[in-house]
Amino acid sequence: MEAVQTDKLKAGQILAEEVRDINGRLLLASGNEIQSKHIRIFKIWGIPEVNVAGTSRATDEFDSHLDPELVEQAQESMRFIFSHVDMGHPAIKEIFKIAVQYRCRNNLVGTESDLPITEREIPLESRKIDFMDALSKKKIILPEIPAVVFELNEVIANPMSSAANIAEVVNRSPSLTALLLKIVNSSFYNFPSKIDKVSHAVSLIGIREISGLAMGISILSVFKNIPKEVIDMHAFLKHSLACGILARVLAAHLNSPQTEQLFVSGLLHDLGRLILYIHFPKESHNIITQSRNRSKLLYKEEQDYLGCNHAQVGRQLMKQWKLPVMLENNVLYHHKPSGAQQPVPATIVNLADVIVNSLGIGSSGERFVPPLDYAALENLELSPSSFEKLIGQATHQFKALETVLNM
Ligand SMILES: [Fe+2]
Ligand SMILES: [Fe+2]
Repeated sequence: MEAVQTDKLKAGQILAEEVRDINGRLLLASGNEIQSKHIRIFKIWGIPEVNVAGTSRATDEFDSHLDPELVEQAQESMRFIFSHVDMGHPAIKEIFKIAVQYRCRNNLVGTESDLPITEREIPLESRKIDFMDALSKKKIILPEIPAVVFELNEVIANPMSSAANIAEVVNRSPSLTALLLKIVNSSFYNFPSKIDKVSHAVSLIGIREISGLAMGISILSVFKNIPKEVIDMHAFLKHSLACGILARVLAAHLNSPQTEQLFVSGLLHDLGRLILYIHFPKESHNIITQSRNRSKLLYKEEQDYLGCNHAQVGRQLMKQWKLPVMLENNVLYHHKPSGAQQPVPATIVNLADVIVNSLGIGSSGERFVPPLDYAALENLELSPSSFEKLIGQATHQFKALETVLNM
């Protein structure tokens, strides 16, 4: 038992002796967990100190510099968005803790409660569309591959490609050149001197990294004009970029030779959603609203409405555009990597997506933290104790790129 000044109490500590006000009225009985509201009441009644026992449940877990009331509020709202994952799993426990702290530090507590939940239910029969069938009957035409993506793809596929080849392709697009130079000159890379030529950037950073970056940016820019009422593209790009960066950080930590492919996979994993938003804006709006009303995962709601989910739609586009098979693998299986032919890279994207949804960086429309494939995660041999450092690295890099891309 220890006497603790009321000012220094933290939510989660256990009260060892009952606390009464000046009239002898019981404020809190011993054995109870002290919550922020109790601390407030103790202060109102001028209780100078109380006796606490045992170890604190909350203070041991969370950064003691954070406002305990805010931490409690964050935990409360986040338990809901974590309702489709196993809170007892060690990886999820660690992600939850890191996400609570990240949201408290970055003013992201309670944002998910702002989402609309007012739309009335629409009968399933009257809204069901078979997306893949419409695609095969050419009732839906997927966007054409942008010329620059086609050319970059050729350069990446050719093992004989040189820095000059990739620079030549990029230089043909002034907007892409300007953006790439902005990125390589940002604190993301932290080069000591200014880089003013794409060829210089390629020689410093590497063919694959520059091609991947250019390809991801060019693909996402195809969709930049989707109306705001359908999807907040700004939030979508943030979610995509954060997933790309985190997938790359995880891949580098695991000594994967495919760090750049994982960056692009993370960047494009939810691309199928953009296709759905373009072709079915009204239905997409309904799908998002229904999933929120019913507390159901968005990709499962997509399946009910459209007979397929965004991962399958994204894969279809990649197939049509003849992008690397690895990208198809990672996009198609990002919600169920254990089913993939190459489960390791798909698991990295799955984990990155789960973490970014937990942190609340942007959004692709999903309200909940999507399921983590626990069986697939085992094969990564990644200890949850490494998450904090890796997520710290990734969020730091994200902030450097976010400013460059004006997100
Ligand atoms: Fe997804
Ligand atoms: Fe996602």
